[in-house]
Amino acid sequence: MPGTPLQDRVALITGASSGIGEAAAIQLAAGGASVVIAARRANRLEALRRRIEADGGTALAVPTDVTSRASVDTLARQTLERFDRIDMLINNAGVMPLSPIATRDVEAWDRMLDVNVRGLLYCIAAVLPGMLERRDGHIVNVGSLAGRRPFPGGTVYSATKFAVRAISAGLRLELSPEDHIRVTDIEPGVVATELTGHIPDESIRDQFHATWSERTPLAPDDVARAILFAVSQPWHVNVNEILIRPTEQGT
Ligand SMILES: NC(=O)c1ccc[n+]([C@@H]2O[C@H](COP(=O)([O-])OP(=O)(O)OC[C@H]3O[C@@H](n4cnc5c(N)ncnc54)[C@H](OP(=O)(O)O)[C@@H]3O)[C@@H](O)[C@H]2O)c1
Repeated sequence: MPGTPLQDRVALITGASSGIGEAAAIQLAAGGASVVIAARRANRLEALRRRIEADGGTALAVPTDVTSRASVDTLARQTLERFDRIDMLINNAGVMPLSPIATRDVEAWDRMLDVNVRGLLYCIAAVLPGMLERRDGHIVNVGSLAGRRPFPGGTVYSATKFAVRAISAGLRLELSPEDHIRVTDIEPGVVATELTGHIPDESIRDQFHATWSERTPLAPDDVARAILFAVSQPWHVNVNEILIRPTEQGT
């Protein structure tokens, strides 16, 4: 789309089959970027691809499991075959199967580490060579308010988001000054998405829904607009962190 801020830019968005990732894909495509949408649910990606293209945008859907290095490498290869470059990575795929630490749900701990940390790193590894070569690029990691403070039942989830914040800060130190790769950590409070529907612990899930049925959480599009803001700045402006709480969230 001519005259739009992200014209001729290519954005790769993980976790684009729902929630924040889906909203970010729509916002960035409307901003003129060609978007590559990745997640495991192929039917949801295909519906989003059609919606973006019907609105005049350009999108490529690549079913991907970010916990598989081979799958992520295929995602990068298919992106480069179609668009020749990756200017932005929106590293958004994440899971949050909360439970009290005493229940020792080690399988859920592994899943959070695999998707939220290992998968995020695999995606960074896949996009870095081209960004380093061009000395240009933007990595947006979707962390969380939980990356600044743990909460009961969220110890391991919070640990993964502390890791995301540390990775963002380290990338910035290593890659921004010389290589001009910008890094943004997006840190939302509560957002109305499918994420909480997958909480296996019934009491945590019920407590969460009871609190937020009375209040207004963020919408995915509220976070997508923050992502659009970060990636639309001129090259010398490195938006480091954006922390966004719903107005009705105090802590
Ligand atoms: N909702 C909140 O309150 C909140 C607050 C702060 C931060 N966040 C963060 O925001 C990000 C997006 O979450 P959301 O709230 O938008 O929830 P969501 O609607 O459940 O979206 C999560 C996305 O991650 C994808 N995903 C999960 N496992 C994957 C895997 N192995 N490979 C590829 N994609 C995978 C899911 O797609 P498939 O299932 O199709 O693979 C889905 O598209 C997460 O990193 C989350 O931690 C959310």
